[in-house]
Amino acid sequence: MDRILIEGPNRLIGEVAIRGAKNAVLPLMAASLLVDGWMTITNVPRLRDIDTFNTLLMHLGADVETDYDGGVLRIRTPQLKSDEAPYDMVRTMRASVLALGPLVARFKRARVSLPGGCAIGARPIDLHIMALKKMGAEVSVEHGFVNVKAERLVGASIRFDTVTVTGTENVMLAAVHAEGTTVIGNAALEPEVVCLADTLIKMGARIKGAGTDTITIEGVNALKAVEVEVIPDRIEAGTFMVASAMTRGNVLIKNCPYKFLDALIVKLKETGTEIRQEKDGVRVIGDIPIRSVDVKTMPYPGFPTDMQAQMMSMMATAGGLSVITETVFENRFMHVSELRRMGADITIDGRTAVVRGVRALSAAPLMATDLRASASLILAGLAAHGTTEVSRIYHLDRGYERIEAKLLGLGAKIKRVKA
Ligand code: EPZ
Repeated sequence: MDRILIEGPNRLIGEVAIRGAKNAVLPLMAASLLVDGWMTITNVPRLRDIDTFNTLLMHLGADVETDYDGGVLRIRTPQLKSDEAPYDMVRTMRASVLALGPLVARFKRARVSLPGGCAIGARPIDLHIMALKKMGAEVSVEHGFVNVKAERLVGASIRFDTVTVTGTENVMLAAVHAEGTTVIGNAALEPEVVCLADTLIKMGARIKGAGTDTITIEGVNALKAVEVEVIPDRIEAGTFMVASAMTRGNVLIKNCPYKFLDALIVKLKETGTEIRQEKDGVRVIGDIPIRSVDVKTMPYPGFPTDMQAQMMSMMATAGGLSVITETVFENRFMHVSELRRMGADITIDGRTAVVRGVRALSAAPLMATDLRASASLILAGLAAHGTTEVSRIYHLDRGYERIEAKLLGLGAKIKRVKA
């Protein structure tokens, strides 16, 4: 397995361009199952999760053309060859569950493996199943698979007791052909949900309220394939903002979705980081001392759970005490034990971590456990004294396109060592 070596401490200087959002591309790929024509998705980053979803779509019967250099993905599903999303695919990527909604909507059936747990928590799909049942689907769970059948789904009033991003997306994808109107209460407000809704509307769907906590979908009979450009990745952008902030850097982030990052920007400014919008992007200037701040993750537009680990790396070398509370997932502190190996002073109590800033982190051999934890270890390595080695970086490649090349371009002393 590949490893990444980083020599620190090092200031990041220069500019970096942000690519399309992984968590917007995946539901758009699922939407391509709804039509038999060629869907064209542009501004697509080269990521392992997208490769995994392509494999699943081809398994189901889709034709897929990828132009990685151009960031263009073309998908069409003229017919279904299989209605099953197998365990080995769903296990590696939970977002495979997004195939459920469109398969039932268009082909009246689906057989999707239960995702199983992952490093950051149990991550069940009970809310997805509840919603499909409310829409009249016949659902059975056996041998680790969810079997869903419906001659035609019927619009229903659904309310999620927990905000679920892919749950909201799955119901939208299922409801576009349903008989009548579906209303989703306590819907996710994420920009990626809005990107999917906008695309479905362009395809001919009738959707109102995306971006609010109540989304209404009126079923229609036919949809058409369209071309869509993916919104920029707010988590990739946020990760580079924190990287600059914690290395006393001066980085211009191009294609930065500033308006999607309010909660992070407010927090970073409280640490003493300078953030300003310029003609070509957003400039982030780090300074010392870094002031400690408290963080509580919440569904959008609150502080993103996908930025919690990166912020913790920054707080590890801040000047005081930072209380970080993870309210979305029950086990998203896998990076803490690795940061401790670098000398970080962090104590965990349930879903809360108390971070006492230390003068400096020291380099150490580290092991990545999940996508965003991997990023937080890379960031810590940039600031730590010595050479940090991060192994199991296949987690990183799921959600960051060539992160070591982009950091190298900013002056980091970083390299990937092939297995
Ligand atoms: C999406 O995951 C993102 N993935 C995650 O990003 C992100 O961390 C998460 O939303 C929260 O923002 C994609 O969009 C592909 P949830 P998702 O359903 O939809 C519980 C990354 O790093 N829940 O919003 O799977 C669940 O256990 C990834 O890019 C149920 O209990 O997350 C969690 O505690 C990681 N039952 C909470 O809701 C359900 O049926 C939020 O999960 C569904 C969810």
